[in-house]
Amino acid sequence: MRCLVDKLREKHELASDEYRALLLTRNPQDVEYLLSQAREVAQENFGKGIYLRGLIEISNVCRNDCLYCGIRSSNSHVSRYTLTHEQVIACCEQGYRIGFRTFVIQGGEWDEKRSQWIADVIRDIRRHWPDCAITLSLGEHPRETYALWREAGANRYLLRHETRNERLYGLLHPRGMSHAHRLQCLDWLKDLGYQVGTGIMVGSPFQTIGSIVEDIQYLTAFKPHMIGLGPFVPQHDTPLGRFPAGSVDMTARLYAIMRLAIPQALIPSTTAMATLAPDGRLRGILAGANVVMPNLSPTDTRKLYSLYDNKASLGAESAQGVKELADELSLIGYHIDWSRGDSPTKKE
Ligand code: 5AD
Repeated sequence: MRCLVDKLREKHELASDEYRALLLTRNPQDVEYLLSQAREVAQENFGKGIYLRGLIEISNVCRNDCLYCGIRSSNSHVSRYTLTHEQVIACCEQGYRIGFRTFVIQGGEWDEKRSQWIADVIRDIRRHWPDCAITLSLGEHPRETYALWREAGANRYLLRHETRNERLYGLLHPRGMSHAHRLQCLDWLKDLGYQVGTGIMVGSPFQTIGSIVEDIQYLTAFKPHMIGLGPFVPQHDTPLGRFPAGSVDMTARLYAIMRLAIPQALIPSTTAMATLAPDGRLRGILAGANVVMPNLSPTDTRKLYSLYDNKASLGAESAQGVKELADELSLIGYHIDWSRGDSPTKKE
């Protein structure tokens, strides 16, 4: 098993069966070797600094009806909110004062007629804080909309492909959502010069080891600048709410595999990791993740952005808790890197 890890570190690629063996091994020493090699590679590229992104959840209004997601359009138990332009700016102001130099504007997928509103917000953030990176996470849109937002000043875009397997995509999404269109969007975003992030939920219902291997192969071919991976966490008001949560261990293995496959990728240790285990975020970092995305949203709307049950948004998961986060990181010998934290493969 160790030679597979060494091979992945050296060649950045393995055969399907070899990935499968790494994902399935039950030998704790082999797993620890995988994680330790990923840690080393993360440190070669980023030292022991962890980049921060300030997450602003601008709205839980969504036109989509993904079967796993708590803010799906048919969930009538959610009270819907949208921040005002001024509220978004106020979140950035607060974040900038704390030291954040990346703002992530995330929200449900809106109708195209509101794209101009987003463009205005982007322009305003860009004007106030020209030294900051603006990341968007707003779902699927026409190429022209992505171009509009890019021209307004956005630098990065997060859009998980969710799964590379078309059949599985169909089981997780309503009729009418197209797997091909999701992949098309990712190609457009890259083409428009965004730093692009993509990824999957780990342990989602109906997922198999084979489909995870397909995801690894898609990611290594697409070579995103950022890779978003988090365990599936059930949300009780959704059709998939009775399925078990994904595993922190499997997600950590995937962080490690992706770190070895794409050494310079920006890999966040995601909120879903922190939600499932008190030490989840640190376990992600010890598996090669190098980014944390604390929540900068107004505290009263945070609980309404409930993609899944018990979503962590307080303490070290919040922007106000960066001291707590710094203390947590120092326990494992890491520290916050306050720089803008661009992808080493793409400087602007
Ligand atoms: N569990 C874990 N992750 C989820 N997401 C949505 N719903 C869930 C859930 N129940 C993730 C999706 C989406 C991202 C914004 O949040 O991968 O792309």
